Amino acid sequence: MDSQVSIWFFSIITAFSFAFFSFTILFSLLVLFLRWKLWCNCEICHAYLTSSWTKEFDNLCDWYTHLLKKSATGAIHIHVLGNIITANPAHVEHILKNRFDKYPKGKPFSTLLGDFLGRGIFNVDGDSWKFQRKMASLELGRVSVRAHAFDVVKSETQSRLLPLLSSVAGKGKVLDLQEVFRRFSFDNICRFSFGLDPGYLKLSLPASEFAEAFDLASRFSAQRGLAYSPVTWKVKRLLNLGTEKQLKEAIKVLDGFAREMIGKRREEGFSERNDLLSRFMGTINDDKYLRDIVISFLLAGRDTVASGLTSFFWLLSQHPEVESAIRDELERVVGSSTEQFASFNQMREMHYLHAALYESLRLFPPVQFDSKFAQEDDILPDGTFVKKGTRVTYHPYAMGRMEQVWGSDCLEYKPDRWLKNGRYIPQDSYKFPVFQAGKRVCIGKEIAVVEMKCVVLAIIMQFKIQVPGLNPAPRFAPGLTATLRGGLPVLVQEREA
Ligand code: HEM
Repeated sequence: MDSQVSIWFFSIITAFSFAFFSFTILFSLLVLFLRWKLWCNCEICHAYLTSSWTKEFDNLCDWYTHLLKKSATGAIHIHVLGNIITANPAHVEHILKNRFDKYPKGKPFSTLLGDFLGRGIFNVDGDSWKFQRKMASLELGRVSVRAHAFDVVKSETQSRLLPLLSSVAGKGKVLDLQEVFRRFSFDNICRFSFGLDPGYLKLSLPASEFAEAFDLASRFSAQRGLAYSPVTWKVKRLLNLGTEKQLKEAIKVLDGFAREMIGKRREEGFSERNDLLSRFMGTINDDKYLRDIVISFLLAGRDTVASGLTSFFWLLSQHPEVESAIRDELERVVGSSTEQFASFNQMREMHYLHAALYESLRLFPPVQFDSKFAQEDDILPDGTFVKKGTRVTYHPYAMGRMEQVWGSDCLEYKPDRWLKNGRYIPQDSYKFPVFQAGKRVCIGKEIAVVEMKCVVLAIIMQFKIQVPGLNPAPRFAPGLTATLRGGLPVLVQEREA
């Protein structure tokens, strides 16, 4: 009898879930259809909703770029998404600096990432953000913390990255460099933020429960944003179905790791340590809050660096003259030193390397677009009206391709555009918001740049990296950070001494 009752009960719940789920999907589609038919049937919204843009463009970011290039204001409005997208530096300065308080990340964003990031810096506005920003800026500004970051990168490069490349060099074996950089930057950011070494880049390229859980959590959280209506994923979450179920399980794994690390640190002591978790433990006692803060750092520093390095090596493979110029500069600055790594100060003297890296980030920003939500009605500097609640997205990928911003040669990879008499000249940060700009500018920018330079120099000193095949224009997978679909397959050759 008991088992019959449970079967009935189970069937009713399943039928109810299925009906509810189907209803929400139909409801979302209906809302979208009505919005389209009753509210907007303009060419852009039509192309968006019918996906007809895919006939001409591989990537959504390329279609947006095409539209933005044609726009007189440098902005477009996707009405059905309630989203203004801009590539106009004056708009960017307006939302990120002049009217910063009126353009928070907003509730729609923090709800999407809330289960994964909690109250971490990446996902909050107002006082909580101010508090974490101040604390994090203080810690990241410390010489000891920066030196620790540099040491972690050098050790990861020396003991894992270079041996891995050596192991395939000259053997005709194709290696996915994007995957290598993802593993590399995951180890680095975990060691730097958490004091935890996942060993993800070990020679055998092992599986890592933590890395995989982190991957799933960021992917499924980002996927929530692709749903036509938030009702869809919220219902799936309520009923613990599909990707929402997997997301919940992945977050459970992350929580377990975080709890273990924090507990261990409390036992062993943290005052002498320079990883971020230990530094934050000096000020914060709430373990859940500590977990949230550190997870935000992992998200911020992981795929971004990997993405920046992947595009850089893709560009170098097409521009051997840039690689030669970097090697010449390295020789000039480092001379006959037998050190395996250029020092921090030597790297600062390498203006061409810096320019080559920034030029690569200009064309292939790891964060292709980023959004804020208007808290009240507003008017952009050129008179564009923004209704309260509108999502306003600045688009660094499109900005790097705008003639109005970078001149008629904007599509070319030209490190020299950042140099004057051989010295690097910074550009206005609102025309290059690759690290965001204004009050919420990336807090790990310097660390990221040093990490990337260290890797580039170490690799090109010892290896030649070739991208076999036709080298078509990059195609990106959807997600929070720019990732090449199909990775970056390369062949590695050891350089002659
Ligand atoms: C090439 C590498 C990187 C790029 C392109 C990049 C870009 C960005 C961007 C665009 C934002 C703004 C995101 C938003 O508010 O929605 C951001 C914020 C942030 N980044 Fe980075 N980032 C990089 C590396 C790093 C690294 C290595 C760290 C950590 C060590 C880091 C830490 C942060 C933090 C904590 C924030 C949040 C700042 C705040 O909200 O006040 N980033 N970054």
